[in-house]
Amino acid sequence: MLVLGIECTAHTFGIGIVDCKNKKVLFNEKNQYKDDENGMELRKLSEFHTSNFTEILSKAKKFLETKNKSFKDLDLISFSQGPGIGNSLKIGSLVAKTISKQYNIPLVGVNHIKAHLEIGKMLTGFTDPMFLYVSGVNTQIIAKDEFGKYKIYGETEDIGLGNLFDSFSRQAGLGFPGGPIIEKLSNESNKNYIELPYAIKGMNITLAGLYTNLQQKLDSKKFDLKDLCYSLQETCFAVTMEVCERAMAYTNKKEMLIVGGVASNKRLTRMAKDMCGIRGARYDSFEMQYAMDNGAMIAWQGFVDKEKSTTDITKFPIAQYINIESDI
Ligand code: ATP
Ligand code: FE2
Repeated sequence: MLVLGIECTAHTFGIGIVDCKNKKVLFNEKNQYKDDENGMELRKLSEFHTSNFTEILSKAKKFLETKNKSFKDLDLISFSQGPGIGNSLKIGSLVAKTISKQYNIPLVGVNHIKAHLEIGKMLTGFTDPMFLYVSGVNTQIIAKDEFGKYKIYGETEDIGLGNLFDSFSRQAGLGFPGGPIIEKLSNESNKNYIELPYAIKGMNITLAGLYTNLQQKLDSKKFDLKDLCYSLQETCFAVTMEVCERAMAYTNKKEMLIVGGVASNKRLTRMAKDMCGIRGARYDSFEMQYAMDNGAMIAWQGFVDKEKSTTDITKFPIAQYINIESDI
């Protein structure tokens, strides 16, 4: 079954083509909007997507031609129905519905967060993992409950890990995105640990206090910046691992995966491996191109949700505010 997936929830316009029967990603290309100074200005964002989506679409078409195929040979079109930014979601939805209508191919709208998780299972062969979903905004611990529905077991009550890294990095004049820069400086540091405050509430965490304290320490100019980066990583990853471990013990899960951009941090993955090792659980990772926003994960989620597909393109309205526990 050949499925084409379209990702357009925020800054990325991506298309993936997956041979779902053989669990093989055949094509996965994307364009990403970037404005380091102003972040995501909505008007510019939609202009970016409307003027760039054809480039990726043409690449997908050319790829199919190399296999002696065309859009007509697709079995299913899948797109991100939400959550995301309305301006982006509308463009992804319109492109998907246009292809579906033109070639009379069934269409399905999928939950972008479920797609992040399910592609991880497909690539690793894990069947029932505990997920740590760590992107810019999100820091969530997610797993299936006893009814087989995804449930959030723990999360940040204020800022996500990625945003914390990005904000601190901007503040310190280090640039954007902050995560990779902080990881690099942390590796170069003398590993002098500087105490930072944090709060754990059951399986939830709060990071705003840590951020304020870090800002004060930075402003005081009494601390080495590399040691601050090191201490930031050590503290917030340890806090995150503590709640992950609690959630694994509570749910009795024996597998763990990390998805989202922060998954590329080697210190975080080391801690996760160690924690799983101690618990007798399995930890696995997969290529970063599939852990970030991408079209292949949307194609695969379309396959998972294929029973919902239809050629009626009036179905699947964009859904900006859904989360992992929503029915979509
Ligand atoms: P969201 O989906 O939550 O709106 P996003 O789509 O921007 O956010 P991703 O692309 O999944 O999120 O991840 C981006 C985040 O990952 C950034 O905040 C970035 O700083 C962080 N990040 C990337 N590489 C690293 C790293 N090596 N260490 C820590 N954080 C990292
Ligand atoms: Fe995402």
